[in-house]
Amino acid sequence: MSEHPDDPATPPTGFTRRGFIATVGTGAIAAAAAAQAATDQAPPGAELPDSADLVRVTLTVNGRAHRLLVEPRWSLLYVLRERLGLTATKLGCERGECGVCTVLVDDKPAYSCMMLAVESEGKAIVTLEGLMHGEELGPVQRAFAEQDAFQCGYCTPGQIMAVEGLLRANPGPALDEIRAGVSGNICRCGAYAHIFKAGQRAAELKKQEGGRS
Ligand code: FES
Ligand code: FES
Repeated sequence: MSEHPDDPATPPTGFTRRGFIATVGTGAIAAAAAAQAATDQAPPGAELPDSADLVRVTLTVNGRAHRLLVEPRWSLLYVLRERLGLTATKLGCERGECGVCTVLVDDKPAYSCMMLAVESEGKAIVTLEGLMHGEELGPVQRAFAEQDAFQCGYCTPGQIMAVEGLLRANPGPALDEIRAGVSGNICRCGAYAHIFKAGQRAAELKKQEGGRS
């Protein structure tokens, strides 16, 4: 996992989550904190009934193992949002077209609406909450904020995860590669020019910070 913000070795960026929220008011990244708090307060799956229809799985999300009872038909998206309280991952088309539900699965962007929770076992899942460093935003999140790479913000969590996945595979993408990297993520507000700039800026920030997420 990445460095922790409480670690004095972590370079100060001057851009905190609190500062970002003060700037943009609402948005996907703000949801991350509340989601994390909900996760911390409620043991995952504690309220689930004991049923023969439920399957026990262990999902590794943001470096933390969660033992859960799930129905075989439940999507990874449903379990992230409704069972783990990780609501930064958004629900859109629910049929693999819009990309708002993008998470990383073994470092690669994936539509969580198109994966079953039961097939996610044994894989390393990262959501937008997993890019946070306590109160500090990760470099891709900061790049989106710096470049005003959103309007309504609904697509932003998926766009950020797509860029994060791209940069994990290709730390120095060309503009065309950035465009291709987010091509599975629709922005209804048409903020694409800023999203592409955010991808370029994210690559710079990651390079400056030693490749951390
Ligand atoms: S909600 Fe998953 S691709 Fe649209
Ligand atoms: S910022 Fe509104 S959908 Fe992309």
